[in-house]
Amino acid sequence: MKPVRKVVFPVAGLGTRFLPATKAMPKEMLPVVDKPLIQYAVEEAAAAGVTDMIFITGRYKRSIEDHFDKSPELESDLAAKGKTELLDLVHSITPAGVNFIYIRQPEPLGLGHAVLCARPVVGDEPFGVILADDLIYSTGRTALGQLIDARAAMKGGSVLAVQDVPHDQTNKYGIVDVDNEMLPTSCVRGIVEKPAPESAPSDLAVIGRYVLEPEIFDALEHVERGVGGEIQLTDAIAALLPQGKTFAHRFEGRRFDCGSKQGFLTATAHYARLAGYDI
Ligand code: G1P
Repeated sequence: MKPVRKVVFPVAGLGTRFLPATKAMPKEMLPVVDKPLIQYAVEEAAAAGVTDMIFITGRYKRSIEDHFDKSPELESDLAAKGKTELLDLVHSITPAGVNFIYIRQPEPLGLGHAVLCARPVVGDEPFGVILADDLIYSTGRTALGQLIDARAAMKGGSVLAVQDVPHDQTNKYGIVDVDNEMLPTSCVRGIVEKPAPESAPSDLAVIGRYVLEPEIFDALEHVERGVGGEIQLTDAIAALLPQGKTFAHRFEGRRFDCGSKQGFLTATAHYARLAGYDI
């Protein structure tokens, strides 16, 4: 079984829900306390043993590249002033042995299309996908690490992170139908993107973490435009279900929907308290 060495971060979205903050700044650079959302995501991938971080970017996303690049003026200034702790902090943003790779998504054609843009770099290997606006706090193994472990336990295949959501919110997620809802890892029988509550097969929602087999790329090439006129990752996953090697894993950890202001503020309060702030 090939190991998961690469993770795709789709970061080309416009982030209109956070305007005006995101007019000239990517939503993935919004900080929770003092760290941008995208850095939490990269740290999660690195902790899971991933070495190749592949960003699918768009216009106005240059600051993400700058964030994970060297900053010679800042670093020499901190060194000259003897601010070694801050210097170490800056260096830790780009751990040794980790590669940062950027691919431009020319048009916003959806999550599935963003993932397909990674094909030339991912090639014939299993890979992870992290949606940075789903911030997952876990005390043990990271959420992506848990999916990688579940894949090993299932002896390969694709694994989707899932969690129960309120029944009236199924239209915000990919919703799965699984063999056995009681098991932590279960075979996926069906998956549908953003179903209305009355037609949802369950309340078990896909949260923004995936480990996918490279077969997904062929499926993405052939999938028709789906919900919202976009090429949906969910539809390509659905096309692969007959192979019987797609699993849903109930991960452990608290997920914050940082794509919404409510979730973002709740995350901020959570991480601020962890850091010792009195709020
Ligand atoms: C995307 C996926 C959806 C998934 C969700 C998780 O939707 O299309 O299947 O449940 O992420 O956050 P989006 O939130 O980008 O609309």
